[in-house]
Amino acid sequence: MESTRLSVNINKIALLRNARGGAIPNLLQVAQDCERFGAQGITIHPRPDERHIRYRDVYELKEIVTTEFNIEGYPDERFMNMVLEVKPHQCTLVPDPPGVLTSNAGWNTIEHSRFLTQIIDKLKNAGIRVSLFVETNKQQIQHAAQTGAHRIELYTGPYAGLFEQNRQAAAAPYVQAAQTATAVGLGVNAGHDLNLHNLRYLKQQIPQLLEVSIGHALICDALYYGLENTIQLYLRQLE
Ligand code: PXP
Repeated sequence: MESTRLSVNINKIALLRNARGGAIPNLLQVAQDCERFGAQGITIHPRPDERHIRYRDVYELKEIVTTEFNIEGYPDERFMNMVLEVKPHQCTLVPDPPGVLTSNAGWNTIEHSRFLTQIIDKLKNAGIRVSLFVETNKQQIQHAAQTGAHRIELYTGPYAGLFEQNRQAAAAPYVQAAQTATAVGLGVNAGHDLNLHNLRYLKQQIPQLLEVSIGHALICDALYYGLENTIQLYLRQLE
């Protein structure tokens, strides 16, 4: 079984900071502490309205993140200029319209094939690993490989939604999707709505899972358990 890296999405920390307009909590300190507590990556998702991560944060984080730095977002011109300048280890492309609350759908890799291929080419030329946020549809994943992406990130919202009711049925499309991805040479990441209840089962079902990025539930758990314990708890689910 591959080891699966935990990348902590720190958007919520930025949201809390922005609520008061100052510098508390200190985003950079939290990123460093996540790493110190065992996280193997830091994920951010700057949105056009900068309601949580600001573009300035991205440059500051680049200076201090020592684990894998993963930037997610919709590849508009501003986002692409920033990513090509910052050169994170990984860029996860997400098809979000500007005002959306959170990412709730994967790419249509067939319809947007040309656009994605051009964008991915630029990122690859800059030495950045590219992951495409997708759903579990077989054809979509096969086309993801044709765009030149290195990996896919499976949108696990539907898995999480069905998990409590029927975990086997919830995981089945993801197992298939991961197998399709592996067959066409794509690495498999996953993210969205993963938590301490549903993470271990996903990992058990998808042995080739390379990375999970987790934000909302992890930061909420940290309110009760503290950040260090929480990160350790999540890492334990991935063992
Ligand atoms: N992956 C993507 C592409 C996302 O947009 C998000 C949310 O920002 C996540 C993963 C993490 O989801 P959650 O906050 O539910 O853990």
